[in-house]
Parts: sequence; structure tokens; C-alpha cells
Amino acid sequence: MKILKTIEEVRAQVKAWRKENLTVGLVPTMGYLHEGHQSLILKSVEQNDRTVVSIFVNPMQFGPAEDLESYPRDLQADAELCEKAGADVIFHPEPEEMYRPGFCSYVNMTGLPDALCGLTRPVHFKGVCTVVNKLFHIVTPDRAYFGEKDAQQLAIIRRMVMDLNMDIEIVGCPIVREADGLAKSSRNIYLTKEERQAAVVLSRAVTFGKHKIEEGCRDAKEIVEAMKALIAAEPLADIEYVEMVNMDTMQPIDKVQGTVLCAMAVRFGKARLIDNFICQL
Ligand code: PAF
Repeated sequence: MKILKTIEEVRAQVKAWRKENLTVGLVPTMGYLHEGHQSLILKSVEQNDRTVVSIFVNPMQFGPAEDLESYPRDLQADAELCEKAGADVIFHPEPEEMYRPGFCSYVNMTGLPDALCGLTRPVHFKGVCTVVNKLFHIVTPDRAYFGEKDAQQLAIIRRMVMDLNMDIEIVGCPIVREADGLAKSSRNIYLTKEERQAAVVLSRAVTFGKHKIEEGCRDAKEIVEAMKALIAAEPLADIEYVEMVNMDTMQPIDKVQGTVLCAMAVRFGKARLIDNFICQL
């Protein structure tokens, strides 16, 4: 496995693979990889001849008061995980390689980012769309892999690919959880021992919400309020949002029907964690 730092090197590598008619999968990440990322890499290795994992903590998707500086980084551990999972290349550029002086071209979507995480993270999805677009142009993958934990991000990337006629298959992969249910996240490292125990309430809320729907409840407000009450009973949890939205528009719904995303963002101390479930009726 190679670790490449420049766009030129990646382009040369992909060109050589293309000469041999090999297919290429891309797993975009910000590093500090865990079993969730591993599942994306394994899927890509299964579906493509070659796999590139990008590791880039993208400054453009962090707001001024967010955790860009403290975001966890461990290239050596990441490289071991990638190698074990069968990746062929890690693309690990410096910020100056991705954003040259005078950079001023952005992908700015309307609509889908103006909900859920986009409301409290106003620059986030512009940064995500711009960097993912750049990675797609650099690597020119056949397929790209994203986790369903970031359900809004996945919906936005699918929309961008459709709207901008990109010839790339977007593959969503299921949330990977710890044994007690907590969704795997690089940001779980911020949790103290007490907060880590408290954070299990998120997956309990997911199970509870699903159960209410299985029992026949179709009133989105009733489900959301019950989930909020369950989370709020945990003193270390500070709810940013719990919402049920239409999966295609990200707009709040009254009645559970069609494809619905029930998503939440909750703070535990320094960690802002997200979780969700999708239901199809
Ligand atoms: O999900 C992430 O880790 C990031 O948002 C992504 C897609 C790698 C873009 O920086």
C-alpha cells in the first residue's frame, strides 16, 4: 500500500490502473479510522479492483468555533487499518495541496443543507460538497463509499452527483455500532468515562423510535417528543435536535410515511454526536 501526498501522484497512479482497465473505489475520510470506516474500505475492496482511501481533515467544513485543531489524527494507526482492509493507496494531502492560494470555487447546494446539522453548522455542507467534488475529480472513482451515520451528508452527496451528472456510483454503508449500541465515531474519543456511558442513550432512543413505529404510531411529533424525553432524562445529554424528515427533501414531516429519516445531534461535554434510523413505509 502506498501513501501519496500530492494530486499529481494520485493522478499518475489512477492513470496506470486505467491503462490496465481496473476499476477504482474511493473511501473519503478525515482519518482516525474505526470499524465504521473499515466496513467502507472492505466494501470498496469487494466491489473494485483498486481502492483509494483519502485521509484529509478538511478545514473548509469546520466552523470557526468547531474542533478543527483538536480533531483526532493518527496516520500510523490509520495506515495499518487501511493495509489490513486491503486498500491500495492512501491519499493524504496537506491543506495547501488541496486549497492553493487564491482558492475561490465552491459547490454550494441549496435546500438539503438548510436542515438538521446544516442549521447549526452553516458552512459545513458547502465544505463537504466542495472537498468531495475535488476528491472525485482527483481520483475519478467508479464508486465512492459513505457511511449512513452521516445520513444528511449521504443524501447531499447523492443529490450533488445527480445534479452535476457525475458518473460515479455512491454506495451507502450501514452504521457500525459498539457492543452496547453507541454508533462508532472518531469523535467518541472526546467522551469522558461518564459521558461514554451516558451516550448509549442515543442508540436507546433509536431503538425506542423504531419500536414506536413498529407498534403502529405514525405521528412524527409524538415519536420525536418521546425520544427527546428519553434522551433528556440523561443529565449529561444536551440535545441539539431530534427530528423526523422526508429523506428526499430533509423537510420535517407530520406523518410517518414513505422514506423517513429520524436523525439526532446531541452533545455530551466536548463531543457532538449524531445518530439516526431510516424507515420505509
Ligand atoms: O464524513 C467525513 O468524514 C467527511 O465529511 C468527508 C466525507 C470525508 C469529507 O471531508
